[in-house]
Amino acid sequence: MEERLLQANRSIEDDEEIKLRPTSLKEYIGQEDTKKNLKIFIEASNLRNESLDHVLIYGPPGLGKTTLAHVIAHERKTNIKVASGPAIERSGDLAAILSTIEPGDVLFIDEIHRLPKVVEEVLYAAMEDFVINVVVGKDSSARSLSIDLPPFTLVGATTRVGDVSAPLRDRFGIIIKLNYYEEKDIEQIVKRTARVFENSIDDAAAVELAKRSRGTPRVANRLFRRVRDFATIHNAGHIDADITKTALDALKVDSLGLDDVDIRYLKGIIERFKGGPVGIESIAAAIGEEQVTLEDVYEPYLLQQGLINRTPRGRIVTEKAYHHLKIPYQSTLF
Ligand code: ADE
Repeated sequence: MEERLLQANRSIEDDEEIKLRPTSLKEYIGQEDTKKNLKIFIEASNLRNESLDHVLIYGPPGLGKTTLAHVIAHERKTNIKVASGPAIERSGDLAAILSTIEPGDVLFIDEIHRLPKVVEEVLYAAMEDFVINVVVGKDSSARSLSIDLPPFTLVGATTRVGDVSAPLRDRFGIIIKLNYYEEKDIEQIVKRTARVFENSIDDAAAVELAKRSRGTPRVANRLFRRVRDFATIHNAGHIDADITKTALDALKVDSLGLDDVDIRYLKGIIERFKGGPVGIESIAAAIGEEQVTLEDVYEPYLLQQGLINRTPRGRIVTEKAYHHLKIPYQSTLF
């Protein structure tokens, strides 16, 4: 199988991130409602000796969609094959991946909203009837071939559930929305990370990190690594509240977890567009960031925090954001 189809190149930080992943539902912190339901669906399919229904997981980046896919495979005691929507360019690529599947396996497709249409259409029959219909040969010698597959579970993940076509969405029996984590959950995740790295951490330091991690485990773990660097140099490796504050201030992560891009986004709307409403294309151009990054990574958290609103005429910055940035509020409603 070609390397490009399964898994991408990984960095040391990616490997560390993998080490931090919980492997079982029991170890997985937060998302309580999701875990409760998923536990029942998995146990029922285990008892009946059937493959688990297909699962669609959606939500902002960094909340653990990939982790949850691995947890599902672990709890089902099956293998997992990992692929990504845009890397599966042709239906033959999908057929190559599916031909390696064993009964009950999990096939994880990240960024499933970016699957090419032709591939998506082959996936429908694979999901529904466990067959792949492919055309072999060309012109007059073209034949359509139907290959049986073992029952498997497709786990699809996306940050943009609105971009998943209705026919694809309808073929998932289980749909999971991951929400931003509560602060107390991030605190537990940070403490767990400290245990894995064998660092000592004070409760107050974990609280401070949790406050500034925008409800996102990936952000919490990234900030943890940087705080740990400061602790190694200045505090014999011990992570306390002071060193945490020093590190996070140096990283320009503010009290709500907003970073440099969030601040430029909010100030950009206020200073260049009188607080809005303004279209996302104009904001992206004004601050020199990609529109999709703003939409997928930055805006969901700003919306959740009530710092911006989306209206039919564009984005507006809220009064709360003006207060947070210490800029006098000028209402755009007159
Ligand atoms: N690391 C990243 N996400 C996690 C989670 N939800 N639970 C435990 N550890 C994690």
